[in-house]
Amino acid sequence: MIKIAVLVSGNGSNLQALIDARLSGQIAGVLSNQPGAYALTRARHAGIPTAVIEHRQYPDRESFDDAMHQQLLAWDIDLVILAGFMRILSAKFVRTWQGRMLNIHPSLLPCYKGMHTHQRVLNTGDVLHGCTVHYVTAELDAGPALAQGVLKVSLHDNAESLANRVHALEHMIYPRAVEWVCNGTVQHSADGQVMHKGQPLLQPIQFCKF
Ligand code: GAR
Repeated sequence: MIKIAVLVSGNGSNLQALIDARLSGQIAGVLSNQPGAYALTRARHAGIPTAVIEHRQYPDRESFDDAMHQQLLAWDIDLVILAGFMRILSAKFVRTWQGRMLNIHPSLLPCYKGMHTHQRVLNTGDVLHGCTVHYVTAELDAGPALAQGVLKVSLHDNAESLANRVHALEHMIYPRAVEWVCNGTVQHSADGQVMHKGQPLLQPIQFCKF
């Protein structure tokens, strides 16, 4: 069985969706850089081991990432899931876990990498918005995508309503995408290609909510 670590910094609603999905892989640990993250409470309620590694207590990014790496090894982790983990990872850490680490980002990548995606979508006047599950590579929010949830921006949306609507989509697509990896439907080849049922996945699989 694939052993999963979920890395979190905050509320952990995506962690909750992964717990509730009863994946074929086992969530073997939840690691947070924030001691007060509600995600840790969710993990404890589900009986999942937790670890707190506070980035502020390390002199640089590399030593913080090394400490996380040691914890992942201690849990014997196969797959790392970033679920609202709000730290940029060092190149070494990403290289070590490349092909074995997924992230969810609240935009239709490659559009709107980085922060404040909902407001930026509204500012531009885009019709479509959503979220993307992708493998993590050295370039921020740029690795190959597996899945996207897509919604239509309504005239009545503001940044808060969009955040809520995108969250609901995240909770639908992240467990699915993680399950594909757990059960082998999706694989990451040595040359960085995402394979879906043995064929190269040329575009992310899209779930449209309209
Ligand atoms: C989610 O919306 C996720 O897409 C975002 O943080 C939120 C975490 O919510 N991640 C990023 O912005 C990463 N670049 P949660 O703690 O309730 O799962």
